[in-house]
Amino acid sequence: MHDLIVIGAGPGGYEAAAHAGQMGKRVAVVEKRRVGGACLNVGCIPTKTFLKASKLLFECRNAAKYGIRASEAQLDMPALLARKARIVGTLTRGVETLLNRSGVEAIAGHARLASRNTVNVDGRVLETKNILIATGSRPAVPPVPGIDSSRVLDSSSALELDHVPERLAIIGAGYIGLEFASFFAEAGSKVTVLEMLEETTAAGDAEISKRLTDAIRRSGVDLRFSAAVRRIDGNKIYAGDSELTADYILNATGRVPVVEDLGLDKVGVDYDRKGIRTSDRGKTNIPGVWACGDVTGRKLLAHAATREGIVAVNNMFGQPDRIRYRGIPAVIYTHPEVASVGYSEMELEALGIEYRKSTAPMGVAGRFLIEHEGGSGFVKALVGARYGNVLGVHAIGDGASEFIMAAAFMIETEMRVSDVRELVFPHPTIGEALKEAIVRAG
Ligand code: FAD
Ligand code: NAI
Repeated sequence: MHDLIVIGAGPGGYEAAAHAGQMGKRVAVVEKRRVGGACLNVGCIPTKTFLKASKLLFECRNAAKYGIRASEAQLDMPALLARKARIVGTLTRGVETLLNRSGVEAIAGHARLASRNTVNVDGRVLETKNILIATGSRPAVPPVPGIDSSRVLDSSSALELDHVPERLAIIGAGYIGLEFASFFAEAGSKVTVLEMLEETTAAGDAEISKRLTDAIRRSGVDLRFSAAVRRIDGNKIYAGDSELTADYILNATGRVPVVEDLGLDKVGVDYDRKGIRTSDRGKTNIPGVWACGDVTGRKLLAHAATREGIVAVNNMFGQPDRIRYRGIPAVIYTHPEVASVGYSEMELEALGIEYRKSTAPMGVAGRFLIEHEGGSGFVKALVGARYGNVLGVHAIGDGASEFIMAAAFMIETEMRVSDVRELVFPHPTIGEALKEAIVRAG
């Protein structure tokens, strides 16, 4: 009898399995594809490898501004694919080692719940005290006629292209659409992004969305809003009242939880098309059955999946724990980056929480000027009107991903402007812009 069987070895499942293994529990993790899940194999890691290349390309093309002659830089797609494979390989081997060292049994196969205490892996029935469902998500396919055209890619197949397409159309200006637009535009594609809404909602802050939209457009991307894709015919796309032709079309219209073929109905697990319902402790409605990560449809971020998995394991083995989503940062790794944590202005207004806001341009940090010649951006701080406690931080500008954790820490520990004033940031770092934005709110 196992103490825990985890279904799915993505960042939710493998970290949870390792954590339970390190507690001395008898744990197995079942994975039907490759350990590491979407994040390591076709998500976070490969896309950031691509974005490192396009950002480097940008820097080379602008090297003269830094006193270096290197303007002839070109992207070598096969070499980039090889680098991506190497990095993914190193990290997935690392996950295998982690599971092994934690005493977790890794089982290859497709798992289904047979009862609340048994899991069926391709016909083999395993008994367990607890089940953690961490099956992740897959690309959503909108009901657009012609979306099954061979010209239509999803984020996974787009990461396998061995050349840079001349014309790329992207459906959706969310995280995936914007990150891929950033990469392919710098790589030389003529990129058109078609978004059905009036603006991108990925940034979570209206002013930052506008800045991001301007920057993406300046990089050469034809970013169109109110452009719901109605029909695809081979390589032709009909969106709003316009028509365009592309070599490839990237479907980036969201992700849906993997809830099929899992035995959820058989066991009576409460779920719908948005995911498995869980408490902030990772519990489902069925005792002994837990869920974490994208399959819950809550945050769809790797680090949120990991924390949810660990929270579930702590609770199942008698260590009360709960997840606090407010302190979980989100980053869009476009050029420029967008990073945020805590409440947005819209949320504070909807909740009737009074707040003060202030901004500081990234350029107040000397390091930003040194590192990102010609770049711009700003940090916005939202603090409680009464006590000056840090409620939210939203930033646009390269380097923002690296300091947003400091803002998350301030929110988690309920710091006030007066506390932040006493913190000493190393100089010169881009994070100094964060301190300046918060201090200005005081
Ligand atoms: P997954 O990583 O999806 O893992 C689930 C695993 O379960 C899979 O390996 C699957 O094969 C397995 N599985 C499913 N069903 C079964 C079954 N019945 N039996 C056995 N195994 C099964 N997030 C970030 O935080 N930062 C980023 O930069 C980022 N970039 C992204 C870029 C892209 C292109 C994409 C698509 C996603 C990105 N994400 C990013 C999101 C991130 O990948 C997910 O939030 C994260 O992978 C969720 O982890 P998970 O463990 O819930 O699920
Ligand atoms: P998304 O939900 O962020 O964006 C999808 C966009 O497609 C929306 O703006 C939506 O309005 C639009 N859309 C839907 N149907 C459309 C249609 N028919 N025509 C035109 N536009 C349409 O989803 P996305 O970008 O696919 O990413 C999925 C999730 O993966 C994200 O929510 C995020 O959580 C995660 N992710 C995280 C990353 C990160 O942390 N840096 C990077 C990539 C993905």
